[in-house]
Amino acid sequence: MIAQFHCLRGCLYGKSLSCNEKSRGNSYRAVNNYDLDRQILGCGDGPASFNAEMSQRGGHIISIDPIYVFNVPQIKSRIAETYEEVMAQTRKNQNEFIWETITSVEELGRIRMLAMDTFLNDFYVGKQQGRYIAGALPSLPFNNGRFDLALSSHFLFLYSAHFSAEFHLQALQEMLRVAHEVRVFPLLMLGGAPSPHLDFVIEELTKDAFSIEIKRTHYEFQKGGNEMLVIKSTSSKF
Ligand SMILES: C[S@@+](CC[C@H](N)C(=O)[O-])C[C@H]1O[C@@H](n2cnc3c(N)ncnc32)[C@H](O)[C@@H]1O
Repeated sequence: MIAQFHCLRGCLYGKSLSCNEKSRGNSYRAVNNYDLDRQILGCGDGPASFNAEMSQRGGHIISIDPIYVFNVPQIKSRIAETYEEVMAQTRKNQNEFIWETITSVEELGRIRMLAMDTFLNDFYVGKQQGRYIAGALPSLPFNNGRFDLALSSHFLFLYSAHFSAEFHLQALQEMLRVAHEVRVFPLLMLGGAPSPHLDFVIEELTKDAFSIEIKRTHYEFQKGGNEMLVIKSTSSKF
């Protein structure tokens, strides 16, 4: 439950986009129109708008997160309870971020609340449709190869102080069991230091003959957070 609801650090699009578009998180950024045809799993999607927005655009997304065990009023009240604390933390750490696309902590707060509203409005129906599933890495309730793409945005590596290198490896191996390709963003910990687990997981996954790439992203909100890990199984169709 460590990471739950601490989602104000969502990453956003470029300057010319509307507030709604800005409210889309990193999972959204890690995919493109081409990915709309693909079966996508979002791990640790939390109370963000990725699933709602992608589903509206005709995408095929399933999100898994431990918070989906709760109902809308429970998630809403937890967001309200933690909002001020998260804002205070962000204010305290504001030198860790680049305030260009989003110009202030207050704007970030508004944008993230908008994203959470989009999520909350979609959650009840989405859960009935099987788009939101309560669960937690490193164990995923899906068959081998069920997805084309599995994403982790602001969960793996970000919470490296709370989850061990072994947890990260198991989580990535599990994502690679159910998906042909895995993308993880960012590769930094809370506080902005590079994750100490990255080299270990790359070394171990390389032994398993996965193809591994660190791609530079245009987007950077957390200072230095402009890299995405892309891992493909050698049998990947893409
Ligand atoms: C900082 S939020 C990121 C939300 C969203 N992906 C984003 O980028 O805005 C981290 C999420 O990870 C979830 N989480 C915590 N432990 C997890 C686990 N073991 N497996 C999957 N998700 C987990 C939390 O509940 C939370 O929703």
